[in-house]
Amino acid sequence: MWATARHLGLAAWLAAAGCGAASLAAAGCGGRAPDAGAAAGGGPGAGGGARATLFSRLGGMDGIRALVDELALHLAADDRVQGFFADTDFRRFKAHLVVQLCALTGGPCRDRGRSLRAVHAGRGIRAAHFDAFLEDVAGALETLRAGERERDELLGALRRLEPEIVAPE
Ligand code: HEM
Repeated sequence: MWATARHLGLAAWLAAAGCGAASLAAAGCGGRAPDAGAAAGGGPGAGGGARATLFSRLGGMDGIRALVDELALHLAADDRVQGFFADTDFRRFKAHLVVQLCALTGGPCRDRGRSLRAVHAGRGIRAAHFDAFLEDVAGALETLRAGERERDELLGALRRLEPEIVAPE
């Protein structure tokens, strides 16, 4: 039983991730989306009409940060996956995930980090772990009251990354 948030350092865990750090600015993380209101914040559901990017509809950078914070809590509490993160620096992990999700959802970030395949290779991540991870994403979205359409789009986009993350049997 290693994975209480306290054990991992609650302050680090909950610290805002993402685009404040110079290193992430270098990674291509912008603060604002090109479409109006995209990064105004306010959490999932705060931004945009039918044609807005998923990034915008998730609440821009503030919404993505809130989602990643919430996801981290779900992962920490999930004994199906928590063991993978035993040695993880969560401030760094969350910062990278914010950039990743920002880029994935059409936000103004460019992910110039290591490839997902390289990051996850050799960790023994199986399909069941991937499914658990997506359930945690869904749980985080529900906690934040994201819309159904946003949930389905984000889960669909993440599902398409499965071949880069799951180890071959
Ligand atoms: C589509 C789903 C996923 C995405 C988008 C994703 C994304 C990321 C990102 C952006 C990083 C940070 C990379 C870096 O530091 O350079 C990372 C690291 C990591 N991911 Fe994932 N990941 C996914 C699924 C999973 C799953 C299913 C597991 C295991 C259950 C997992 C376990 C890890 C671990 C252990 C690390 C390394 C953390 C560390 O630095 O200690 N990931 N992932």
